Amino acid sequence: MTYLVGENLTGGYGSGPSILNGCNISVDKGEIAVIVGPNGAGKSTAMKSFLGLLNLKEGKVTLDGKDITHLAPQARIGEGIAFVPQTENVFVSMTVEENLEMGAFLRTDDYQDTMGQIYDLFPILKEKRYQLAGQLSGGQRQQVAVGRAMMTKPTVLLLDEPTAGVSPIVMDELFDRILEVKSTGMAVLMVEQNARQALEIADRGYVLVMGENKHTGSGQALLADPIVRKSFLGG
Ligand SMILES: Nc1ncnc2c1ncn2[C@@H]1O[C@H](COP(=O)(O)OP(=O)(O)OP(=O)(O)O)[C@@H](O)[C@H]1O
Ligand SMILES: [Mg+2]
Repeated sequence: MTYLVGENLTGGYGSGPSILNGCNISVDKGEIAVIVGPNGAGKSTAMKSFLGLLNLKEGKVTLDGKDITHLAPQARIGEGIAFVPQTENVFVSMTVEENLEMGAFLRTDDYQDTMGQIYDLFPILKEKRYQLAGQLSGGQRQQVAVGRAMMTKPTVLLLDEPTAGVSPIVMDELFDRILEVKSTGMAVLMVEQNARQALEIADRGYVLVMGENKHTGSGQALLADPIVRKSFLGG
């Protein structure tokens, strides 16, 4: 049984048309699953459906076999899901450390150990812990956002374009960190514009087009598929 499963995800915003049209997306513990596809395909919408920010018309989401389709976002966070949104994912007028503390908002236990682990994973955050997040570079901010999400000690990490706007070198570094996170047994589901590089590290890959699964397979299989290469990876 796969750890996080979205099955036949169908729905949109308010009374508008369906953006997701029967999507199937899943990720297991200790895996990275990557969603790629054109702008407007519904990638971020799919991520929101896992967190519970979307009213599904059809379909369901299960976590460790438990149906969580009707749980509110806060309850899903309590169940172990953490989310890094595509935009506005740090509190710019707070320090790095305050951002991490905000991530621990729902915790009632001592979170110092977790903060230490995050500082080990992202040493630059420790160095800059008293600096305002708004003064950091793009890549550093993304590390704050991921670190903040990890403060709840999640079992599932949802990342919407973690490498957006960063240089190729920083992208490689972020992917290395995400591989480290995966190796701790976390289930990582991420959306990526850097499709080729993301599929390189993907255990599962999904090409989403107009809210539907256009291609599904291991990252390596998708990278080797001539149709996927031609249509989505620039040849
Ligand atoms: N809050 C919202 N209210 C209404 N429609 C929305 C909302 N957010 C997104 N949409 C619509 O849903 C569709 C899919 O958007 P979504 O953000 O999921 O795409 P995406 O694949 O993440 O694109 P990108 O690669 O640009 O991030 C778009 O047509 C968009 O206009
Ligand atoms: Mg998006």
